[in-house]
Amino acid sequence: MAFQDKALDGCTALVTGGSRGIGRAVCVALAARGAKVAINFRSREDAALETAELVEKAGGSAVLAGFDIGDSEAATEGVGAIGKEHGLHVLVNNAGIAINGLVMRFKPADWEQVIGVNLTGSFTCSKAAVRYLLKAKEKGRIINLSSVVGESGNPGQAAYSAAKAGILGMTKSMAKEFAGRGVTVNAITPGFIATDMTDEHLPEDQREALLKSIPLGRMGEPSAVADAAAFLAGPEASYITGEVLRVNGGLLM
Ligand SMILES: NC(=O)c1ccc[n+]([C@@H]2O[C@H](COP(=O)([O-])OP(=O)(O)OC[C@H]3O[C@@H](n4cnc5c(N)ncnc54)[C@H](OP(=O)(O)O)[C@@H]3O)[C@@H](O)[C@H]2O)c1
Repeated sequence: MAFQDKALDGCTALVTGGSRGIGRAVCVALAARGAKVAINFRSREDAALETAELVEKAGGSAVLAGFDIGDSEAATEGVGAIGKEHGLHVLVNNAGIAINGLVMRFKPADWEQVIGVNLTGSFTCSKAAVRYLLKAKEKGRIINLSSVVGESGNPGQAAYSAAKAGILGMTKSMAKEFAGRGVTVNAITPGFIATDMTDEHLPEDQREALLKSIPLGRMGEPSAVADAAAFLAGPEASYITGEVLRVNGGLLM
């Protein structure tokens, strides 16, 4: 259930990986709260344009921001440009990739890519956003998308789990570093959410076994994660920082 107020009126939110899946739902949820939304994408501009339409239907305004968060220079420049042109109050580090494989067969290049996009990308975007906030003397919110497997681990996902666990350590460290500057930093650990990512990476037999292990008995919808992000971005969460919010149907308690 989406928030019905306009608590984010006058705020700009940048959502990395806003073109599809959870990121798209986050864009719509933040727009419904009144935020102007900068929709980042890597390659799917068509999908980002669809998100922009949904943002406008939700009563918000949207700008597109195409850059690869795994490219530190491009990400630093991209985040800085949004701040300069539109202001920046909320950063949702949502963009992520999963490359799965057993450790003994896992390629070093795949390890680099998974860490580079999920962990280093979130670090780079956060640093650029805080640089803008300090210069503009603004308060801000950073919301990082980790994962249930960052807490639990998962066979075949050593790299992805390491990146997502790293995001939790980074979240808490940044929360401590930036609290005095009025910037809160929190993480969300989704369980299994119905998006392209789980569609592509989950064989049918594993999907059935998984459903049995979720106490609420179903996969989550992207909007469940988006509502958590809209909460962490809003005034209700002003005294919450360094927190990890699980959105997983009870999969991990
Ligand atoms: N789905 C789940 O069950 C689940 C569970 C736990 C955590 N998560 C996390 O939640 C986040 C969103 O997942 P999702 O399921 O919505 O994924 P998804 O459906 O695969 O969408 C991924 C999004 O990230 C963008 N992206 C990927 N690499 C990028 C890069 N280098 N630079 C900029 N954008 C990039 C994609 O952009 P393009 O459209 O341009 O390709 C797309 O918008 C990820 O961090 C994921 O690890 C997901």
